[in-house]
Amino acid sequence: LAEEDDWDELRNKVIGLGETSHRKSHYAQSREHLHQLERFRQLLDASEEIILVSTMDGGVIVDANGGACRKLGIDKDELVGLSLTQVCAYAGGDLLSELRDTGSFGGRTSFLFVCRDGRRFFAEGSVNLQSLDDDSFVSIVARDVSERLAAETELRKAQAALEALNASLEERVGARTRELAQAFEELRQAQAQLVQSETLASLGRMVAVIAHELNTPIGNSRIAASALHDESRAFAGKVAQGLRRSDLDDFVERMKSGTEMLEVALQRAADLVASFKQVAVDQTTSQRRQFDLETVISEIRTTLQPSLKRANCTVEWQVAQGLQMDSYPGPLGQVLMNLINNSLLHAFEGQASGMVRISSAPAGEEAVRITVADDGVGIPPQDQPHIFDPFFTTKMAKGGSGLGLNIVYNVVSSVLGGRISVDSEPGEGSRFELLLPRIAPVLEPAGR
Ligand SMILES: Nc1ncnc2c1ncn2[C@@H]1O[C@H](COP(=O)(O)OP(=O)(O)OP(=O)(O)O)[C@@H](O)[C@H]1O
Ligand SMILES: [Mg+2]
Repeated sequence: LAEEDDWDELRNKVIGLGETSHRKSHYAQSREHLHQLERFRQLLDASEEIILVSTMDGGVIVDANGGACRKLGIDKDELVGLSLTQVCAYAGGDLLSELRDTGSFGGRTSFLFVCRDGRRFFAEGSVNLQSLDDDSFVSIVARDVSERLAAETELRKAQAALEALNASLEERVGARTRELAQAFEELRQAQAQLVQSETLASLGRMVAVIAHELNTPIGNSRIAASALHDESRAFAGKVAQGLRRSDLDDFVERMKSGTEMLEVALQRAADLVASFKQVAVDQTTSQRRQFDLETVISEIRTTLQPSLKRANCTVEWQVAQGLQMDSYPGPLGQVLMNLINNSLLHAFEGQASGMVRISSAPAGEEAVRITVADDGVGIPPQDQPHIFDPFFTTKMAKGGSGLGLNIVYNVVSSVLGGRISVDSEPGEGSRFELLLPRIAPVLEPAGR
């Protein structure tokens, strides 16, 4: 409030010590008081609070603490003498006139302070009216709350963002679910297309193989037919010139061998067509009925007997009795014949003899297990993944079409509703195992 030199005058005015006592003890007491005031002043200056004192009339700043100077960036010399309105705006409007009207200012008040460099910050604090003698002074004690406000704003923003996030989360989950459903549907369609194009591709391969395979016997038939034609023309010529006995014998001999050749070639073509037809075996064209498995297997045995004999092959039948099935005996027989024929054709190559074991046994209450095993050359590991593929054969030029096991696979898995597996080691033979339900499933018609 004042400089050191003015202490005496101040003492008279503010503290109200009379001039009456000049006693030393009194003086010492006063100095002690002043010392305390000085310390208090230092405390106020060090404080972060903004303390401003202005006149009530005109609002001229008459004092400010160190905190105010630092916060506003204005030296005390400069600050004192400025108008309060130059550094501080009161949220309620005109601070001084409101103070004049109400005489007091209860509760906390908000201010906007303007620094020397133009920066502004919010502060909260209190306003008090003080009278000294006849003069009235306004004191403002406030604290910078800009950091707190900024933190609050950040918090509010974060809360709003969180709420928005929450709101959008459900929406996003929904959208993601829809996306996934769509991706799944696309995948399903792609898969269907793949299956279709694979079906078309294998159909194309099949047509190529059928054409190729039929080409040989039909070509042979044509050669035989045209040879026969030439022979008969030449024979007709000889008849006109006068036929000799030897010409007739010759002609008959040639006719015989020509028609034999024709018959063999046409038989081969007919066999091929029959085997191609098997590829398309399905439930609708096969007869379903109740039968005894043992009976069906013994029928196959009878059918295969001649070729088994020819192959110099021992066959062991281990057939369980009394296994009743409600299934398709025709396709089942076809499967077994293909498997047994494969053993005869492939397994015993370069071997003088061989053994094939055919067995059937119940597999639980509802299925049967049928195995066809040989002790032949076995199937190389690299071939095993392909043996059920259409047109996979190691007998390409020797009559193999590579359709046998493909037909087996299709019949077992679709018509009979079962499974087939193979177990083979090179040199150790091969073992094909069928697991079939005793009651075949009713399948949807093909083409759906
Ligand atoms: N028991 C077996 N022992 C050894 N190899 C076998 C046996 N069974 C099948 N294979 C191999 O699997 C291949 C495919 O057999 P698959 O029956 O499909 O065709 P294929 O017998 O060659 O011709 P086809 O269409 O006339 O039956 C055969 O070429 C052969 O290499
Ligand atoms: Mg075969």
